[in-house]
Amino acid sequence: MAQLTFEQLESYEREGFLVLEEFVSGEACAALRARAAKLVEEFDPAGVRSIFSTNEQTRTSDDYFLESGDKIRFFFEERAFREDGSLRQSKEHSINKIGHALHDLDAVFGSFSRTPEIAALVADLKFERPLLVQSMYIFKQPNIGGEVTCHQDSTFLYTEPPSVVGLWFALEEATRDNGCLWALPGGHKGGLKSRFLRAHGGGTRFLNLNEVSWPESELIPLEVPEGALIVLHGSLPHLSRMNTSPRSRHAYTLHVIEGRSRYSEDNWLQRSTALPLRGFD
Ligand code: FE2
Repeated sequence: MAQLTFEQLESYEREGFLVLEEFVSGEACAALRARAAKLVEEFDPAGVRSIFSTNEQTRTSDDYFLESGDKIRFFFEERAFREDGSLRQSKEHSINKIGHALHDLDAVFGSFSRTPEIAALVADLKFERPLLVQSMYIFKQPNIGGEVTCHQDSTFLYTEPPSVVGLWFALEEATRDNGCLWALPGGHKGGLKSRFLRAHGGGTRFLNLNEVSWPESELIPLEVPEGALIVLHGSLPHLSRMNTSPRSRHAYTLHVIEGRSRYSEDNWLQRSTALPLRGFD
């Protein structure tokens, strides 16, 4: 059951991304939003002050983050807290994202992530033994939803040879105002710029592989309606800007790697043997 036409595959190979509108039904989007709201409601933030930032200087690589590869954990927006440590907004409007093993630990996200349509799409992308390595629920909160600076997903989920593909599901409409994705068409052909590694002695570090800077003025906005799927090649430079609007921009992302590639042992995201990676079975 092929999901992609020859023209779509050709476009993906040329541009490094593909937009598939109406991939997810309105009911499925609503079910994921409701499940995420429930998880946040049940989350007790006492003692947890882990924020998420892709800014190199401020990235928080504490144990809460580093151990989240095989757990369901909650990360706050950078702007969520006052100086005294209290939340500026309600808890449900302060979380940046939930990660990184929703697809293996939560039944609702697990079944959403393993539909025959997604399995067929991934097979069309020439995966032989696909493994679902990471999932995130991203809230992009109204007014405070932080920017994600320009990056390539292979930086964070490196395999040898490189294989990661990002599946970005719009659970709400994504526009320039509420922080849609922006991508550099054809930029996946330029090689990998850096890797994000576990550092010896704790924490993380970036390893620069080349000093070429991306022409960020050439990135184009990928504005999509609710239910759209954006497929992102692991080497494609992409970003999302701050949400300056009063509307949220919820998205669910799933990252797939090729099981025949070697997953690097120094990648930031590691799992315990108690929760091995699975494919679509
Ligand atoms: Fe990304």
